[in-house]
Amino acid sequence: MSFKKPKAYFTEANSADVVTGQNIHAKNKRLEEVMGSITRHLHAAVKEIEPTQEEWMQAIEFLTKTGQMCDDWRQEYILLSDILGVSMLVDAINSRRPVGASENTVLGPFHIGGTPEYEMGTNICLDGKGEDLVVRGRVFDTEGNPLEGVKIDVWQANDEGFYDVQQKGIQPDFNLRGVFRTGSDGSYWFKAVKPKHYSIPTDGPVGKLLEDLGRHPYRPAHLHYILSKDGFDDVTTHIFDPNDPYIDSDSVFGVKESLIADFRKIDDPQKLNELEFTGSFYWDVEFDFVLAKKRDSV
Ligand code: BEZ
Ligand code: FE
Repeated sequence: MSFKKPKAYFTEANSADVVTGQNIHAKNKRLEEVMGSITRHLHAAVKEIEPTQEEWMQAIEFLTKTGQMCDDWRQEYILLSDILGVSMLVDAINSRRPVGASENTVLGPFHIGGTPEYEMGTNICLDGKGEDLVVRGRVFDTEGNPLEGVKIDVWQANDEGFYDVQQKGIQPDFNLRGVFRTGSDGSYWFKAVKPKHYSIPTDGPVGKLLEDLGRHPYRPAHLHYILSKDGFDDVTTHIFDPNDPYIDSDSVFGVKESLIADFRKIDDPQKLNELEFTGSFYWDVEFDFVLAKKRDSV
């Protein structure tokens, strides 16, 4: 392949055109489109910011440290994408659904495979720590028909704000995780503990960035769900506690109005007895989901 002399040499004014002009032989046209857009936006940002050489080196060092923090267990780049709102934006673009269907939110880094499947009503809290919670609801299609056999994969942090995988040897493996299947009326229920807000990891460059920006690292209390059934779009989502102090300032922007649940405190001794809870109260949250048929997705 022969490369012709460019129509113009690089100047401050024509910088993005000169760079993108050299990509025209790209074998992968999508890559050319993506790199063209990134180049144009990056050059526009640099022109707006006018960084000093020191500031540019600081940016390079930040990205270097972010990469060095990554391994099989830690993904600092995903965390960066999360706190920039990019994870939520990519998810929103890829999970457009008909009105009425349940909305997605971030998956987060703490989902694992191999979670045991339990009978309805099982307590997923394996160490007895935290305030008792009953989670229940139904799953429907967009026409209001109950959906039987929906796989519901749930996971949550404990009442100190840690997932089991963050506290190996402290929490039992698979603590506060479970897989359930809806019954013929679309219903599901299980016992768990009331979640609390927690901090995303702050011991890396992303934590430092949040601190320098005057932002807190907290996520409001939530339970994670993945709902799946053949022929329907998977729903990867959370339900949130509206009374959490961070409900309006989630560090990763995961909160959506439609995902806010109602956690009710119950102290009725008969109900406590029926559920075999030994404390003086428990929390009850009811949350229904609507799955969109694969062809319904817009
Ligand atoms: C989570 O909810 O598990 C999570 C999401 C994004 C970043 C960190 C944690
Ligand atoms: Fe979480």
